[in-house]
Amino acid sequence: MSDPALPNKQRAARAALAWLRDDMILGVGTGSTVNALIELLVSEGAARRLRGAVASSEASAARLRDAGVALLDLNELDGLALYVDGADEATRGRQLIKGGGGALTREKIVAAAAQRFVCIIDEGKLVDQLGRFPLPVEVIPMARAYVARRLTALGGHPVWRTGVTTDNGNQILDVHGLAITDAVSLETAVNQIAGVVSVGLFAARPADVLLVGGARGVETI
Ligand code: A5P
Repeated sequence: MSDPALPNKQRAARAALAWLRDDMILGVGTGSTVNALIELLVSEGAARRLRGAVASSEASAARLRDAGVALLDLNELDGLALYVDGADEATRGRQLIKGGGGALTREKIVAAAAQRFVCIIDEGKLVDQLGRFPLPVEVIPMARAYVARRLTALGGHPVWRTGVTTDNGNQILDVHGLAITDAVSLETAVNQIAGVVSVGLFAARPADVLLVGGARGVETI
């Protein structure tokens, strides 16, 4: 299925190349915008100038391997200079909803370990308030129904993403109908529910830079 936003995603991905440095270890996110970045790493010759990469998903790891980029274990590193990833929604305050691709937990880990998080999106992802995109929550399978009840009590309508098992062997609830006025508080509240592995709100640790691809170019926020 063709993605009408792909040219804008490609523009944002191209703008991210300016943040790379030779011999860098790069944190690489997940999704079609990041896939465009990985393609550019190859076509622009940047892949061979990296020391290696830490991938936020098995899917991105496979693409990086095909691109000839060495995959590194985050446990063997002191940290990362840069993480580049997409998002499902973003505000101008650089708070994000992520996890539409199901990789939210590893994305959060790599973002947390990175000194700088550059988020690449097409302009259709920019919103005044987060929450129109259903908020993904990764849960331990035995806790799914309990967590769903707690999310309902918080005002959401959780829907089990059936047929999906995360790279960590867990399940995902997509929470519809949340008006997210205080993203940091909601992130904290959801994180405290027993059985939640992680929530796809990136508010306490937002992106540091947002590159927004549009028909007229790329806006840096
Ligand atoms: C993956 O789990 C997500 O967080 C992605 O970053 C997000 O879904 C963006 O995907 P696209 O780049 O495909 O729009």
